[in-house]
Amino acid sequence: MLGTACALRLPTGAGGFFSLSQIIKELMRMGKLPDTTGGTVPILDLGRAFEEIRGEVRAAVDRVFDAQAFILGREVRAFEEHVEAYLELPGDGAAVGCASGSDALLLALMALDIKPGDEVITTPYTFFATASAVTRLGAVPVFADIDPDTYNVSLADVERKLTPRTKVFLPVHLFGQMTPLEAVTPLLREREIRIVEDAAQSFGAWRRVGDRLLRAGTAGDIGCYSFFPTKNLGGCGDGGMTVTSEPELAARLRKLRVHGAGTTYFHEEVGLNSRLDALQAAILDVKLPHLEAWNEERRSLAAFYRLCFESRGLTGPEKLRLPVELEGNYHIYHQYVIRVPEGRDPAQPLRDRLMAWLEERGLSTRVYYPLPLHLQPCFAFLGGRPGDCPEAERLSREALALPIFPGLRASEQERLVSAVAEFLGPRL
Ligand SMILES: Cc1ncc(COP(=O)(O)O)c(C=O)c1O
Repeated sequence: MLGTACALRLPTGAGGFFSLSQIIKELMRMGKLPDTTGGTVPILDLGRAFEEIRGEVRAAVDRVFDAQAFILGREVRAFEEHVEAYLELPGDGAAVGCASGSDALLLALMALDIKPGDEVITTPYTFFATASAVTRLGAVPVFADIDPDTYNVSLADVERKLTPRTKVFLPVHLFGQMTPLEAVTPLLREREIRIVEDAAQSFGAWRRVGDRLLRAGTAGDIGCYSFFPTKNLGGCGDGGMTVTSEPELAARLRKLRVHGAGTTYFHEEVGLNSRLDALQAAILDVKLPHLEAWNEERRSLAAFYRLCFESRGLTGPEKLRLPVELEGNYHIYHQYVIRVPEGRDPAQPLRDRLMAWLEERGLSTRVYYPLPLHLQPCFAFLGGRPGDCPEAERLSREALALPIFPGLRASEQERLVSAVAEFLGPRL
């Protein structure tokens, strides 16, 4: 028993004590005690990873309260420096914290002087903020269709959508996997089109290109991250960041986040109030050294899902399709999104029936994203029509995200896959 206790990954609580429930939870996670948490499986349980770092987080929070300095300042700069080192930004490179991933995108486009009428090519299959950053500046999002395997934007369609008004390409590294930007970068450079990466879901993902290893967010001109609590590196509230290797852009981003002021109360341009809180920075700084292990755990969970689905014969062209990891990519599985074939009744996609069936059994899943952006009511003025991006539209009827997070148990994955097999087996 003592040996087992020593191997437990328990947080060092105040005074070094562990609660009984922490010990029981950890023993169940290790498979040393039967899992008595019942039949439910949550889509996400942030508490499990938090148990590992509870003590460290509390110490960091105390430090901020002791200093009573809450906006930007030392904590934010320290976190920015650690991100710069983690991403291996070049000497001139800089990380600039801001209030959210949505603001990071807006700030990036502002720093590149995007104006009304400019076109920004992006994907319709993403979170809303990717495109709203464009329209907030009066610029025009131009939606290219997606690749049905990786769910990222189709680079062939991006090339088709280029016009003399294209100023920025805004790829989203969706669900934790990078878009292979190198395929279009030379063409974009030739046309002086900038690349802003929406890496909100991919902090820590990378791609090998030749003998270089590119981290998501560092392959273009400006990379944008979100530290929303559910992200692989998530804070305890909103937070975001931009990174760039161009010092002029970094200086502009720093200025834009404080109302365009170079010096306090002297405003050279109109910016935003978009600063990363010291509390968030301090907490994120505690989490950063754990990120690689958490991402590795997500990859193991993804591999186990694959094993479970394939061994049950559930995958194939007319069956379930699992996420495809592109050659050279290090996918960090922010989400594990499978495709459920539509079925014969268009009014009731098989995916929706499966989801409801699982929910009734306490097994939570989610749909990212049920309506592609070119069909969103608020973008009707752009003239998008059903059929414009057929792959994105089809995916919106087939995509189903399964639970994937550090601390998810193999027994929970098995329970979920068995339930999927029970429902789909007779229907596929
Ligand atoms: C792809 C993508 N872009 C942008 C954002 C916006 O980030 P935030 O919620 O931090 O504003 C998110 C967050 O959900 C996202 O997933």
